[in-house]
Amino acid sequence: MAPLDPHSFTDSTHPLTTHVSLSLYFDFSSATIHGAALFTLSSPYSGQLSLDTRSLSIHQVLSPSTLSPLPFSLSPSPDPIKGILLSVSLPNDNSLSSFIITFSTSPCSSALQWLSPRQTFNKKHPFVFTQCQSIHARSILPCQDTPASRICYSALLNVPRELSAVMSARHVDRRLPVSGEGFSSLLPNGFNSLWCSDTRVVEEFDMSQPIPPYLFAFAVGELGFREVGPRTRVYSEAAEGVLEAAAKEFAGTEEMIRQGEKLFGDYEWERFDLLVLPPSFPYGGMENPRMVFLTPTVIKGDASGAQVVAHELAHSWTGNLITNKNNDHFWLNEGFTTYAERRIVEVVQGEDRAVLNIGIGWRGLNEEMERFKDNLEFTKLKTNQEGVDPDAVYSQVPYEKGFQFLWRIERQIGRPAFDEFLKKYIATFKFKSIDTETFLDFLKANVPGIEKEIDLVLWTEGTGIPPDAYEPVSNLYSKIVSLANEFKLGRMPREDEVADWQGQEWELYLENLPKSVEASQVLALDARYRLSESKDYEVKVSFLQMAILSKCRDFYGEVEKTLKEVGRMKYLRPLYTALVQGVGKEEEKILAKRVFSEARDCYHPIAQGVVESIFSKHL
Ligand code: BES
Ligand code: ZN
Repeated sequence: MAPLDPHSFTDSTHPLTTHVSLSLYFDFSSATIHGAALFTLSSPYSGQLSLDTRSLSIHQVLSPSTLSPLPFSLSPSPDPIKGILLSVSLPNDNSLSSFIITFSTSPCSSALQWLSPRQTFNKKHPFVFTQCQSIHARSILPCQDTPASRICYSALLNVPRELSAVMSARHVDRRLPVSGEGFSSLLPNGFNSLWCSDTRVVEEFDMSQPIPPYLFAFAVGELGFREVGPRTRVYSEAAEGVLEAAAKEFAGTEEMIRQGEKLFGDYEWERFDLLVLPPSFPYGGMENPRMVFLTPTVIKGDASGAQVVAHELAHSWTGNLITNKNNDHFWLNEGFTTYAERRIVEVVQGEDRAVLNIGIGWRGLNEEMERFKDNLEFTKLKTNQEGVDPDAVYSQVPYEKGFQFLWRIERQIGRPAFDEFLKKYIATFKFKSIDTETFLDFLKANVPGIEKEIDLVLWTEGTGIPPDAYEPVSNLYSKIVSLANEFKLGRMPREDEVADWQGQEWELYLENLPKSVEASQVLALDARYRLSESKDYEVKVSFLQMAILSKCRDFYGEVEKTLKEVGRMKYLRPLYTALVQGVGKEEEKILAKRVFSEARDCYHPIAQGVVESIFSKHL
């Protein structure tokens, strides 16, 4: 077997799945989904076929025409990263291009967070949502869970009738269940007979464009929506305040889609809806096609909410149309998207704001070099993730070094030529999964001689930040950085100097301060600007991180409160790390352990894993 993906059991000599047809019964009382799925392969096959699973119960594998059982086996112990290999035996005498699997998820499925009514905004109904990137789709359904494969799907979601569902797919219908429809008659544990109970409703979806498995997504809960543009609705828990604020925050979305189309070509996914999740959503945003998932922390009434939407929108071209072949080439998704995001931001919010974002990214990139100083592999663009959990090495490097690489090429050939190159790149590789070499070959073929101007090997295979990376320049950016430098000498910014600062200005300012300062300075800064109480979590967390590292105990109460109210890993990671890293931290370590034990149940399983891995490194 030729290696295809370090994170998947998928065998490169097997045909890939092209379509999955799912019937899913959501049992909220046991936090379990019971499923039956028809898999279609790209060509008929006989023999053992390898699929990825994690914490799934596999009940039966069936031949679709006869419904006779087919033999299957599960690897005896899970690989800590890849999970469990499911080998399905397709008959030798009569090769099949499709088969059915019946299965159930486990309450600890790593892709799913089940929220009890108490954990939701309205406190009336439960909620469940997915997060499949990078390798969690396999904990919802058995699949060839590698982005090298691209799958179309259809789905019948059977849910309690007071709830509704959204997916990364076209919504076909919401209707009463029909007896025996789809593969529901094959559902395990008696759920076939509950399918048509009068407390249930079926939400039907269809995704006719092929997507990598990590873009499979749904959310089920008491959802409401507002129209915000001709192809955009914003969904969230049906609570007046939340929907209102979200609709306002994202009012400019259509303009961004239009600008994206001008820059990168047609928007291919028809709709661009947004779903605002509960605060435990572990990321800022997730580019699920047709239905982007967002943390509620982006709703704060300034430019930054739109920045996250610009990023997830940009994935509609880079990531969702052109996809990294496996996670070693993750920078192809995130580096291109960061570049594309900033181009959209530049048009809709102006150059100053785009430069500010580049500056925040530049600081972030430099900090990651510190984080990975003993593990230089993850300062490369093209990485080797054999034996490595992608969640554990998630960082700014693919985003910001990737951005810097593309920006470097843009500087070399000029913006008009680079824009043309980008459009051609997207048109050439859309709906394909590619690797770094494919990109470099395309670059060299379309920009002859580029390898003589830019050290492409150093950029893609070298560690650290190449010498021709570039710190941005603008008046606003330089002013903020120099004010931060003056703080080190004891001068705080005057009120007139910060009068029109938004969250991102403060974020850049704080990111440029020393990691730790005198506790008295932390107190003085907060006394004047109340950063510890900022509504903007980027600002608040950056400030609290400095407070912890400066051992300024006055803010530990606020740290605890923050760790208990949000589950976005971008905030959990620096706060928990600041608490447990380094010597002489006994009090902070006790605090971290207590807070985590109390907050753990409110975090998404992926976030739980990340905090646990921070603890295992430092405790
Ligand atoms: N695709 C990512 C989120 C992701 C990456 C999830 C890897 C799981 C594994 C998404 O597009 C993203 O980059 N989100 C950022 C938004 C930011 C860059 C504006 C985030 O969540 O912080
Ligand atoms: Zn992204």
